[in-house]
Amino acid sequence: MTQVSFPALRMRRLRRTPLIRELVREVRLDRSNLIQPIFVEEGLKTEVGILSMPGQRRQSPGTVGREVGRLVDKGVKSVILFGIPTVKDEIGSAAYDPNGIVQRTICDLKARFDDELVVLTDVCMCQYTIHGHCGLVNEERIDNDKTLPKLAEVAVSHAQAGADIVAPSAMIDGQVKTIRQALDDSGFKDVAVMAYAAKHASSFFGPFRDAASSTPKFGDRRTYQMDYSNPEQALREIALDIKEGADMIMIKPALAYLDIVYRAKKRFQMPTAAYNVSGEFSMIKAAAREGWIDEKSAILEVLTSIKRAGADMILTYHALEAAEWLD
Ligand code: PBG
Ligand code: ZN
Repeated sequence: MTQVSFPALRMRRLRRTPLIRELVREVRLDRSNLIQPIFVEEGLKTEVGILSMPGQRRQSPGTVGREVGRLVDKGVKSVILFGIPTVKDEIGSAAYDPNGIVQRTICDLKARFDDELVVLTDVCMCQYTIHGHCGLVNEERIDNDKTLPKLAEVAVSHAQAGADIVAPSAMIDGQVKTIRQALDDSGFKDVAVMAYAAKHASSFFGPFRDAASSTPKFGDRRTYQMDYSNPEQALREIALDIKEGADMIMIKPALAYLDIVYRAKKRFQMPTAAYNVSGEFSMIKAAAREGWIDEKSAILEVLTSIKRAGADMILTYHALEAAEWLD
């Protein structure tokens, strides 16, 4: 640390002009680290706006390619797919149907963009089960070990369709290990796993459940998603997923969890992602709509804070608009 102090030292010298400020900037947002979540709904004829997420839409099989094309043109070359099936059942069959909505979308996108696009997929059951929980249910309890082979089937079906990275989000113990093993056994040794390693039971998922129609029909997700009061446990969850073979880790949500992002990056030095979730997105949109905050600067501030905390990658519904503002 320098011994110089005021008046020899003046911190404001390096804030004097925009170019000097840019010269000394420590953290920079980059389009190539942004991942846009995409909802695609089976049976839709055209895209449909999501009320609680202004500017976001559920894509139809016919519109999703064009939407992803707009992203790619703007330099956002990674998407994570969420499917909404026409039929839900007790065991989430549509989640691992080789002809399911996500599987068909992966095929279409890979045919169109090949390696000009990174396709990530969410591996879970909640959009596909009648009860809306992330695993198989037995007498209103989520059966951990019976869910594991189902999640493996989902992941392998995504890999078969051409996914680059699968992202298990069910918070079922052993899911990363089971999926890694299944991918390897099926010949997909180069398909990577991004573990939703520390996924917290959060009120900030509200708009997403509306968008993806995945609200649980009974109870809540607190027997599998983490209690947000446990930062040490979050680090244990992450350590376990790394041990089970995760290639990348994710912390979710992002903004109320930047302490976890910071500690995880410092401790594990893994490729680290943070999920700037639906509720975080919608709060900014709502406040901006009311004229209470400036939308563009608020979004850039939030995304920069996530990066500053240590995230290498950000999953965010702001990806497209942010890409338009970045140079
Ligand atoms: C489903 C899933 C959820 C999100 C991503 N995957 C919702 C949930 O767990 O209820 C939330 C994403 C968001 O809020 O943007 N497993
Ligand atoms: Zn789920």
